[in-house]
Amino acid sequence: MTRIRFNAFDMNCVVHPSPGLWRHPEDHSRDYTDLRYWTDLAPLLETGYFDGLFLADVLGLYDLYGASPDAALRAAAQVPVNDPLPLVSAMAAVTDNLGFGLTTGTAFEHPFPFARRISTLDHLTDGRLGWNVVTGYLPSAAENTQSRGQLDTFEHDARYDHADEYLEVLYKLWEGSWDQDAVLADPVSGVYTDPAKVRPINHAGTHYTVPGIHVSEPSP
Ligand SMILES: Cc1cc2nc3c(=O)[nH]c(=O)nc-3n(C[C@H](O)[C@H](O)[C@H](O)COP(=O)(O)O)c2cc1C
Repeated sequence: MTRIRFNAFDMNCVVHPSPGLWRHPEDHSRDYTDLRYWTDLAPLLETGYFDGLFLADVLGLYDLYGASPDAALRAAAQVPVNDPLPLVSAMAAVTDNLGFGLTTGTAFEHPFPFARRISTLDHLTDGRLGWNVVTGYLPSAAENTQSRGQLDTFEHDARYDHADEYLEVLYKLWEGSWDQDAVLADPVSGVYTDPAKVRPINHAGTHYTVPGIHVSEPSP
């Protein structure tokens, strides 16, 4: 039996791949800053039997044309753009089955706090979360997020080598730190978590040193 999956494609901005459509009198893409835009969209998709909503994202600007971001700003071409992650818990609250595909770059944020944010969303969505792993293809994003001296690491292959280590840290935190049964939540003994079932990941790599434990309990 062939199974068809329906996936909607949006972005937390005015213009994702539809230049100029925001000028149409019936277009609502300008409402992206209103949480109701998203809490209306998610149940609409679920009613229409969509499997998931995929959210693209970039942290950089399209600034090659005219050597400036002016054209992108004029056309609202993926700028202004807001963070996709906070949308997900609101949309999860008004749906039961819709999945959420989140795009986040591996180059712009330390993996330790990122691991916790994704664990948090995995809990709050009861496992309806996927991650579109991107390394970031816009130099303007790398320029604004890297410390001096790190910029040369964002040539293509180095970007992917860096992403390999980023994922290694995340997998260690998500899968290697807490045993699935580490949380006892035993009111009789008063023990919430059995410390014998939680391990530090002791990661020491090229880009990151993460000695400790993941701070979230295991998620779906
Ligand atoms: C359909 C499609 C959607 C993409 N969406 C995103 C996105 O939302 N964010 C992003 O940073 N990159 C996105 N990319 C770019 C990829 O992450 C990747 O950088 C690009 O395909 C070029 O490959 P390279 O990084 O190996 O040069 C997308 C690529 C494709 C083909």
